[in-house]
Amino acid sequence: MSIFRDDILAGRVALITGGGSGINLGIATALRAHGAKIALVSRSQERLDAAAGALSPGQVDARGFAADVRDTDALQAAIDQTVSAFGRIDVLVNGAAGNFLAPAAGLSPNAFRSVMDIDARGTFNASRLCFEHLAASRGVILNISATQAFMPTPLQAHPGAAKAAIDKLTQDLALEWAPMGIRVVGLAPGGVEGTEGMERLLPPELEEEMLAALPLRRFTTVDEVAQVAVFLVSDAAAYITGTTLVMDGASAMPLSGVLWRATRSAP
Ligand code: COA
Ligand code: NAP
Repeated sequence: MSIFRDDILAGRVALITGGGSGINLGIATALRAHGAKIALVSRSQERLDAAAGALSPGQVDARGFAADVRDTDALQAAIDQTVSAFGRIDVLVNGAAGNFLAPAAGLSPNAFRSVMDIDARGTFNASRLCFEHLAASRGVILNISATQAFMPTPLQAHPGAAKAAIDKLTQDLALEWAPMGIRVVGLAPGGVEGTEGMERLLPPELEEEMLAALPLRRFTTVDEVAQVAVFLVSDAAAYITGTTLVMDGASAMPLSGVLWRATRSAP
């Protein structure tokens, strides 16, 4: 179910990195439901084919092109294949990411680099390589961030640094590319239920305590994130650029968990 009109993205083409699963696939599904043609880009062609087939029977209006966002030759090929298949690129969603819980003191230099490379460098790579297509369409880039970018989070130094870099890119690319008609926006959800990220980051024994500390007492959902993504890439957001929208139910406000726990028995 969506509150937006069905055809608000008709005629547009969206390339979504990391689009074969989870939140990014939810965004792909919502953009498709509003008329966009979809190119999914991540490492596993098998996973992409299954996702594209589910989005569009026979893969007529959704295709998967395998590439690692760290590999610029492969990424360029995926972008070229997208343009060959659909003729243009109007929306780029940078959603590919890697994450795991690890203390900074137990993180090898290569582990830190891997996450920086996938998240931050991958976001620059796809944005840069799509630049000419987005300038031609006066398109939009949506960068998927996370609250770790601005909220110090234990065992999350690597994605924290990577997502902070992404948020800064959102600002700088927005500034430089606004004259070409390209908007650059970010979306930073809090915990999203039923996702790989939550599976990796939230040990089940901590879930109850986490929920009790959340002001809204629940995590967000893939569908809620996808609806915000539809808004941000649509013409309704035409004057929004350089902004990362935080949708975390106020959970990352300073001391929100502590204060909520302290006051939740109050009237
Ligand atoms: N704790 C500490 N270090 C870890 C780790 C963990 N749980 N998992 C991987 N690493 C380290 C590896 O040991 C390696 O470092 P080393 O060479 O010094 O030993 C480095 O990270 C790279 O690992 P590798 O498996 O070669 O990387 P990859 O590029 O194949 O995969 C990951 C990238 C590690 C991020 C992998 O988890 C992944 O593919 N994730 C995608 C899905 C995902 O994370 N989804 C959630 C998004 S929020
Ligand atoms: P997910 O399903 O694991 O999504 C990550 C995607 O990135 C996968 O489809 C993966 O596919 C792809 N990917 C990983 N490394 C890649 C690479 N090197 N090149 C190309 N693609 C790569 O996890 P998710 O939880 O839905 O997260 C999706 C996004 O939301 C991420 O940006 C994450 O940081 C963000 N986020 C998640 C949460 C949450 O609670 N889950 C909260 C805030 C923000 P392959 O492995 O097939 O390549």
